[in-house]
Parts: sequence; structure tokens; C-alpha cells
Amino acid sequence: MGRPAAERRQDLVSLYREAQACTRCPLHLTRTQVVFGAGNADADLMFVGEAPGVNEDAQGVPFVGRAGKLLEELLVDNGLSRSDVFITNVLKSRPPGNRDPQPSEIDACRPYLGRQVALIEPRLICTLGNFATKLLSGSPRGITQVHGEPRRREIGGRSVLLYPLFHPAAALRTPKVKEQLARDFARLPALLAESAPVPVETASAAEQLGLLD
Ligand code: URA
Repeated sequence: MGRPAAERRQDLVSLYREAQACTRCPLHLTRTQVVFGAGNADADLMFVGEAPGVNEDAQGVPFVGRAGKLLEELLVDNGLSRSDVFITNVLKSRPPGNRDPQPSEIDACRPYLGRQVALIEPRLICTLGNFATKLLSGSPRGITQVHGEPRRREIGGRSVLLYPLFHPAAALRTPKVKEQLARDFARLPALLAESAPVPVETASAAEQLGLLD
């Protein structure tokens, strides 16, 4: 497996400090603060949204507005909570007026996401909406086509199960999208279980049965 959790957590704190001082793109001129990400630094499940909005920019925490409330409800409906998962965004700084992220901003910010994945070591990453999905899938196929289709990808130097979901903000605008998001979300517990490492007991039982050399 990977490096000890305490070591990875320490490196994540260093990365957080580095991001707080980031001036790699012009968004540093207009943001109130960097929104690095929040939650369990050793999470099996990570969510990647688009970019901080006005509430996130004010509080320094991702998904604290209406979209965040829906995300939290969906987690709870499926036996999870915010403290079980790590939540972050493609961009760590708010685009003024909530405009779309620009390609140059995504390029400038993407090393942070790669390093977050490498340090947190999630088994499953849910991309929320088009920007995160296209960035992490490496494919131009949009969320309407690929939502609910898990696929294996190498991200941050690790093999991870990528699971694209509609963005909760889109779900708040369109009831049909909300229903689909809830259906896709309901597969999360099973996907998490599927992506679990093989338990040690299985190996020793097989050994005891003489199934291994
Ligand atoms: N939308 C996002 O994509 N990210 C947030 O943090 C909040 C809203």
C-alpha cells in the first residue's frame, strides 16, 4: 500500500500552505481566500467539483452553499457524511461572478488536484459536473453522456475508480437531473465496496487451503 497516513497528512498540510500563497493564475488577485478542500485526509471517497462560489470564497470551505447542502443530503441518504469523504474543486480560487473556469486557470491549478489525490489515496473519485469530469477522464465526452459510468483511470500516479456525477447545482435547477443524480449516487456504497482492497483474511485462508505457492 501507500505511505503511512500521518506522513501523507503532514504533506497535505504543506500543500495547503503552498496553495494559500498561490499566484499561478490571475484569480489570486480577485479571490478572498483559497478554497483548498476539506474533509477526511485519508478518505476512500473524494468529490471534485468545479470552483468555489461566493459562499465558499467567503468561508474558505468547498460546497457550503445550496449545492453543498444537496451534496450533504445525498451523502446522508447513502449512509455517508462529509467527515467520511474529502471534497475539493478543479479550481481552488473563485472565478469572478462565478464564470466558467478558463483553460489557463485549469492548467495552473491542476497540479494541486493531482497532488491531493496522490496524498489522500482515494479509491473512488466522483467528479461533479463537466469541468471535473473532462479534466479527470481525459475525454471530451460531457456529463450528460458519461454520468453514472464508472471507469478506471490513473490519477496522481494511482489507479482510481472515476465515477462522474451531475453537478448538484445543475440538479437544483432541473428536477429530472436531481432524480438522476440521486439514482447515480445510490450506487456509491456498492462501488466503494467493489473498489476495496482484498482483505488479508482472504489471502491467508487461500494459503491455508494450499491454493498459493
Ligand atoms: N460549486 C462547486 O463546484 N464547488 C463548490 O465548492 C461550490 C459550488
